Amino acid sequence: MYALRVKNLIKTYRNGVEALKGVDLDVHEGGFFGLIGSNGAGKTTMIGIITGLVNKTGGSIEVFGLDRERHLNRVKKHIGLVPQEFNFNMFEKVQDIIIAQAGYFGVPRSQAIRDSEFVLKRLGLWEKRDTVSRQLSGGMKRRLMIARALIHKPKLLFLDEPTAGVDVELRFSMWEYLKELNQSGMTIFLTTHYLEEAEQLCRNVAIIKNGKIIIHDHINNLLASLEEETYVIHVRDTSAVNLLENYHIRILDTSTFEVDLNKKGSLNDFIEQLSQKGIKLVDIRPKGNRLERLFLKLLKD
Ligand SMILES: Nc1ncnc2c1ncn2[C@@H]1O[C@H](COP(=O)(O)OP(=O)(O)O)[C@@H](O)[C@H]1O
Ligand SMILES: [Mg+2]
Repeated sequence: MYALRVKNLIKTYRNGVEALKGVDLDVHEGGFFGLIGSNGAGKTTMIGIITGLVNKTGGSIEVFGLDRERHLNRVKKHIGLVPQEFNFNMFEKVQDIIIAQAGYFGVPRSQAIRDSEFVLKRLGLWEKRDTVSRQLSGGMKRRLMIARALIHKPKLLFLDEPTAGVDVELRFSMWEYLKELNQSGMTIFLTTHYLEEAEQLCRNVAIIKNGKIIIHDHINNLLASLEEETYVIHVRDTSAVNLLENYHIRILDTSTFEVDLNKKGSLNDFIEQLSQKGIKLVDIRPKGNRLERLFLKLLKD
């Protein structure tokens, strides 16, 4: 069963910008999906169309097997949205914001009060329920956005760059919380340009560039498809390193250099070569974040 199926989605804004140029995407029920792309790639447009904030130009969307156009109200009940920007009333109190949101989904007020207690406690905001939202810290405002998106118990949660501009500590705690939500059965769709975030959280990812999906795969396959790996090699003395022919080598200083190896297993060959040339190996480690390099490589093409 798919939580989300997007077929040939097209969006051309009135000013002529083609934000989505025929996007196909599937997200399995219970999945944790990441849409990765740089600024302007089309991520927010995509979420906007699925959640009903933006009109599509063409294509179709199914949510839990329901066509988005034909079953709009049922589809909306299944969906929760945490937008990129804070968009609650800054002068309203925390619990009132949550209760009002429940009202939009037709939840009776008495139940909304009970449910709001549950989500606010869950997100560590219960103590702040009577605080005017403007007075919350940045991290609390983020959590308020999530609490509000969860009040009607959606099965599919969209988060648009949930940790952009969030400090490291808060980012880690949000990741933990999102993992828990997903483990409790909720399907999660997030957009990010933090590649580390996708690597940490997502089982399936798609990379979007200029309104087109350029890769849609399991995160492990994506990482495995990265052929070339750069290693930072620490040796006693780099003076003999240029004896190594047929390798792409950059000498950094008298004891460190980098090498690009283009296949799995070639690392062993390389180490053997080092010892044959009498170069004493001290340390070897891969350079940088793999997904990040994959991303850069794909976006270069
Ligand atoms: N309301 C709008 N009117 C015209 N162009 C827009 C509008 N919203 C977004 N765009 C353009 O559509 C493209 C995709 O934007 P967006 O979906 O916000 O990308 P992302 O969220 O990946 O940064 C960009 O070129 C952006 O400038
Ligand atoms: Mg965006």
